[in-house]
Parts: sequence; structure tokens; C-alpha cells
Amino acid sequence: MADRTQTSIALPTTEDTEAFGRRLAVELAAGDLVVLDGPLGAGKTALARGIAAGLGVQGRVSSPTFIIAREHRAGERPGGGEPVAMVHVDAYRLGLAGEAGSGGGAQTFDELDALDLDTDLAGAVVVVEWGEGVVEHLADRHLLVRLRREPESDVRTAEWGWVS
Ligand SMILES: Nc1ncnc2c1ncn2[C@@H]1O[C@H](COP(=O)(O)OP(=O)(O)OP(=O)(O)O)[C@@H](O)[C@H]1O
Ligand SMILES: [Mg+2]
Repeated sequence: MADRTQTSIALPTTEDTEAFGRRLAVELAAGDLVVLDGPLGAGKTALARGIAAGLGVQGRVSSPTFIIAREHRAGERPGGGEPVAMVHVDAYRLGLAGEAGSGGGAQTFDELDALDLDTDLAGAVVVVEWGEGVVEHLADRHLLVRLRREPESDVRTAEWGWVS
């Protein structure tokens, strides 16, 4: 990560990961791009759920099976602040029938274009799972969160920082 302000946190439980997302959300506003990285089951969707709760957006955040991007409308922001929508994207399914490792192919970029995320970004926080190497060009900077699983335990470690 190019950013010097990178920080790390241990997340022992799912609830901790969601709470971390709520804390990250306090800093977020329309136009912010958040890229969630980490292996299968790392907790990216759990983190997205926390961010959604922190933003106060509507609708349940789930792991989309067929839907690549879902818009959550703005709601009441806990602790006040300008209400903002959130678009939750699962880029894993972009590209060749969602094959892992397809990120970056021409088809991926066509499908990405079709999502019009740049338009969404004007009025929403856009949170992308599996977005690394695919969506960074959509904004001047992005918040990169890397989740790691500790072997044989539920503990996750998150490293995050703004990358420009
Ligand atoms: N510390 C933790 N943080 C987050 N999730 C945890 C933790 N400990 C256990 N879990 C469990 O791990 C699973 C994480 O699933 P989640 O869907 O959030 O991962 P993901 O990274 O989005 O996976 P995918 O790559 O399939 O999208 C959940 O079942 C969650 O309850
Ligand atoms: Mg997920």
C-alpha cells in the first residue's frame, strides 16, 4: 500500500469486524470509494454490513449471488451527518462467469463500465469486494482495507489506509 498512514487492527469476532466497519463509516462521504480485499470468507461482506450500519443506509447487506451491485438508499445517519447512499459491489462475479483471477480482463472492464459506478460515486459511498486491481481508476483515491484470516481461528486482521 502506498499510503503511509496505514493502520492495523485485530478483529476477533464477526461483531468486531462489523463494529470496525461502523467506525470507518464515520469518515465516509459521497464520492468515497472503499476497496475490500481478502480471501474467501475473510469478512468483506461483514465489514460492508458494518459500514452500511455506520452510514445508516437502508436494506440488508448480503453476499450477492446473482446481483453484482446493490444500491442501499440513504437513511438516517447515526450520530448525525449528511445522509448518503451506499453501493455494494461484489466484483468477484465480474468477468468470465465469475472465475477467480479473471480480474483485469477486457470483459471485466466492459461489465464494470456497464455498472456505471462513476455515476454512483457522485452521490454515494461505493464499497467493492474483490475490487483490487479493477476499480481504483474510478476515483482519485480509495480506502483500501485488507482482511487476513489467522490460521485455525476466527481472528481477522485488517490493515487499511487511503491510497492515492
Ligand atoms: N472475526 C471475524 N470477522 C468477520 N467474519 C468472521 C469473523 N469470525 C468469523 N467470521 C465468519 O466468517 C464469515 C465471513 O463471511 P463474509 O461473507 O463476510 O466473508 P467475505 O470475505 O465477504 O467472503 P466472500 O469472499 O465469499 O465474499 C462469516 O460467516 C462470519 O460470521
Ligand atoms: Mg462477500
